[in-house]
Amino acid sequence: MTHPQAIIPNLRDRLAPTQWKLLSQAAQEAQSRGWNLYLVGGAIRDLLLADASQKLLLKDIDLVVDGFHRSADTGAGVTLAQSLQKLYPNVRLDVHGAFQTAALLWHNDPVLDSLWVDIATARTEFYPYPAANPEVEASSIRQDLYRRDFTINALAVRLTTSRSGELPLLDFFGGLLDLRSRQIRVLHANSFIEDPTRIYRAVRFAVRLGFEIEPQTEAYIRYAMESGVYERSLSQNDKAPALQTRLKAELKHILQAPYWNRALQLLASLGALRCIHPTLDLNETLWWQVRLVDRWLRRFDPTRRLEHWQMRLEVLLAYLAPEERAAVAENLQLPLDSIERLQQLAPAQAQVLKSLPNTKRPSEVVWLLRQYKLPTLVLMAIQAPRSIRRMLWKYLTTWADIQAPLNGNDLKKLGYKPGPQYREMLDKLLAATLDGMIQDEAEAKAFLAKHYPSPSKL
Ligand code: CTP
Repeated sequence: MTHPQAIIPNLRDRLAPTQWKLLSQAAQEAQSRGWNLYLVGGAIRDLLLADASQKLLLKDIDLVVDGFHRSADTGAGVTLAQSLQKLYPNVRLDVHGAFQTAALLWHNDPVLDSLWVDIATARTEFYPYPAANPEVEASSIRQDLYRRDFTINALAVRLTTSRSGELPLLDFFGGLLDLRSRQIRVLHANSFIEDPTRIYRAVRFAVRLGFEIEPQTEAYIRYAMESGVYERSLSQNDKAPALQTRLKAELKHILQAPYWNRALQLLASLGALRCIHPTLDLNETLWWQVRLVDRWLRRFDPTRRLEHWQMRLEVLLAYLAPEERAAVAENLQLPLDSIERLQQLAPAQAQVLKSLPNTKRPSEVVWLLRQYKLPTLVLMAIQAPRSIRRMLWKYLTTWADIQAPLNGNDLKKLGYKPGPQYREMLDKLLAATLDGMIQDEAEAKAFLAKHYPSPSKL
């Protein structure tokens, strides 16, 4: 059903002129071949949600081209992308042949900045079995929209003009009504069985937009999770990596967003953390830990050199049994350093729990802890008893940054012959500084004179 009255007013004025120009060119190219071109998905949703006077700068644009094409190898979408590439020689074109989709990518372009345009060929995506990758069959725009996740993402505007010159909104599944009543609703009962990562998307959109997951949709989520959909999907080995890639992408989206904590709670309340691991549950302790890690990162990584979303995920994984942690991280395709960190966490924790309480001097604390990088220290801290956590805090806030008043160059200037003993001398100096025996350069020199009396003999 189209809503002639629901034409997006002033679509042209609401987009950046450069983006509008690109859409017009794409529409002309399509029209000249007798095809229809549609703007679909998030762009329409966001345009309808925003104030009508508000301009939108789209970061990604989803287009669907609907038209008969002579060649079975290149769908209409690919052909259209190729013709746009001729108009924009700086663009990168990626073709995903099997799905007849093309992506045009601009990177820091002087005109279009960083923009991603996906062009799909209208098709029915049917899933031969749950969580399989979609297989492709040319079909109409309605079927293309039907394979999408939620009604609010299944709206389209036809860019190839009708006789009246209007750009009609296509709303086959009640998306407009759901936008107005702020509901996340799937298009059919099997949606989450076909793609369980949509559960994460439902949560993401609900929290981000302040929408409600419509009760029937919520029941589908619970049913999918209780029926073990994710484990079943993963057991199809050939599909598992693609599914895990999508899950990781959704986790990243959620955990790096400002609303990550509400989303995580909602995921947990829907039982959806089971997708990460069947035993994972956001109980009070884990909830406290993920919030605590934020405080530590704010304090010790204010310039965000670490990936904070990934640290939040690592906290969740660190809560699993030690022998599970690294395997789950690997399945989620986390970077090697993260997998290794989780692998090494248990022995590191054991070592620190055993040795730290016995340290008497700051230098002993530093000697014990300086082998660990910040992410490991943070993961250890949030799981440690309070007394240990305090020492880790003290180490990071105070002792880790203390330096001896003299360095290697100074030793050289003092006449000590460079060699392996420098390490020992500098360590001794640092220990004496940490333990308060040396305050300044003069005291450091006196310390050296006492312990290493004849520089030239070294
Ligand atoms: N989609 C889907 N199922 C998925 C992922 C995506 O049906 N597992 C569909 C959705 O209809 C979505 C479109 O593919 O609108 C494009 O996906 P994406 O770019 O991730 O979504 P946007 O709606 O553009 O979201 P965002 O605003 O967060 O970019």
